[in-house]
Amino acid sequence: MKPGDPHLQKKPLITYGAGGPTYTARSTLYRSFVVVLPFTLAALLGYITYLATYLARRHDIHHPAPPAALDNRVAKLPVMGYNTWNAYHCDIDEDLILQTAQLMKSLGLADAGYSHVNIDDCYSERSRNDDGDIVEDATKFPSGMKALTDKIHKLGLKAGIYSDSGWFTCQLYPGSFQNEARDAKRFHDWGFDYLKYDNCAVPFDNITRENIMGRYERMANAISDFSLSSGTPPLILSMCQWGREQGWTWARRYGQSWRTTDDIDPNWQSIVKILNQNSFYTWATDFYGHNDMDILEVGNGPLTYEEAKSHFTAWALLKSPLLIGTHLASATKETIEILTNPEIIAIHQDSVVGTSISPFRWGINPDWVSNNTHPAQYWSGESQNGTVIMLLNTLDEPADMFFRLTESPWIRAGRQYTVRDLWTHTDNGTAVRNFTAYAVPPHGVVALLLQDAGNEPDGLWPPCAVLEWCMHSNGTRID
Ligand code: GAL
Repeated sequence: MKPGDPHLQKKPLITYGAGGPTYTARSTLYRSFVVVLPFTLAALLGYITYLATYLARRHDIHHPAPPAALDNRVAKLPVMGYNTWNAYHCDIDEDLILQTAQLMKSLGLADAGYSHVNIDDCYSERSRNDDGDIVEDATKFPSGMKALTDKIHKLGLKAGIYSDSGWFTCQLYPGSFQNEARDAKRFHDWGFDYLKYDNCAVPFDNITRENIMGRYERMANAISDFSLSSGTPPLILSMCQWGREQGWTWARRYGQSWRTTDDIDPNWQSIVKILNQNSFYTWATDFYGHNDMDILEVGNGPLTYEEAKSHFTAWALLKSPLLIGTHLASATKETIEILTNPEIIAIHQDSVVGTSISPFRWGINPDWVSNNTHPAQYWSGESQNGTVIMLLNTLDEPADMFFRLTESPWIRAGRQYTVRDLWTHTDNGTAVRNFTAYAVPPHGVVALLLQDAGNEPDGLWPPCAVLEWCMHSNGTRID
């Protein structure tokens, strides 16, 4: 059809949207305009989007799709190992680290699953070298990091190192801000497998144009890029941002664990405070990404045997990384026994179920209410071998702890369950509907594994364990 073709003129008005404006082909100019306009607009929009993306990338002011770090597929399970901070702070050197690695072998910790020997803050010189690289402290590490990681690897263990997303570490050694690629390579060349990345000495906003998430993204990208370009496995990234900016909502994009709280202390108050806070975001933990409740204090300070057991049980069943933080050369038999409990570790390292236990009842404290002295006391979760139960006595005196089995969502109504005690390592009969742990010690824990043992006995009354809207098929309500 040519312009001016009578067919065109005869074409009826085509309404465009009910009651909306009408559109009629009128003239060549008008038609060309109508045809060209959408393309022009699309092109313009594309250009604007491109420009915005480019500028955002240049200034690191957005959070693009998760970096490849997310797909690194390292650390599916929460890491088990050793970290130097709680026991030694800055007082570390290569002999101590090697001795620790050897003790992990000789004390049976390596066999129990502890595989990483991680160096925390204070290992380097105060300044980078002329090339801009971090250098190990020549007095503390005279043989060099590579020689040390070689020895650690020879023992069949892995090695971890530490840095910071700001200008400096928390003890004012060089941090990795604006040196992420260089440092990721350096740590890799030194032979490390794991990086703890801290949150101190933050650059000014007019430099970062970013918040915590962005500063961690920089290192995640550096690790990922280096891994891709070198064809080597990426460093495991342990993010130490102390629970700031709710890492549990986003940190899984960048690393394999994220701290959820401030630093731990070797006392009961600190343990229950951290547990209380973590009770509200247990959902965030699963394979490849874990809430990090901080380095263990088992063996340290005034923690009693019962408190140390509770601490270890909670950290393990909530699937936190388990990093030993005590002086191994003087560790007691009890400390080692707690740290190596195989039945608790089996749940922590469950390769089929990656989720954490969660509270099904708070107990002393009303449900869903935060309380740093009396956190949730009744917890349960799934495992490949059955339902896991954790009962915590937060009182300063012994207590009986009772629960109805079906308070836990992982229990089936109308079934009975065998009860395995994960601390006494005994089978404690079969629970029908209820379970009571008698005389749980002050600040003590009970950890159980419940396995389905078939239908409960016939004729139990009431017919529903939970008497809420329990009804006979004839319409009789029983509650
Ligand atoms: C803190 C961190 C500790 C330890 C310390 C080193 O920020 O939470 O675990 O790494 O820095 O200075």
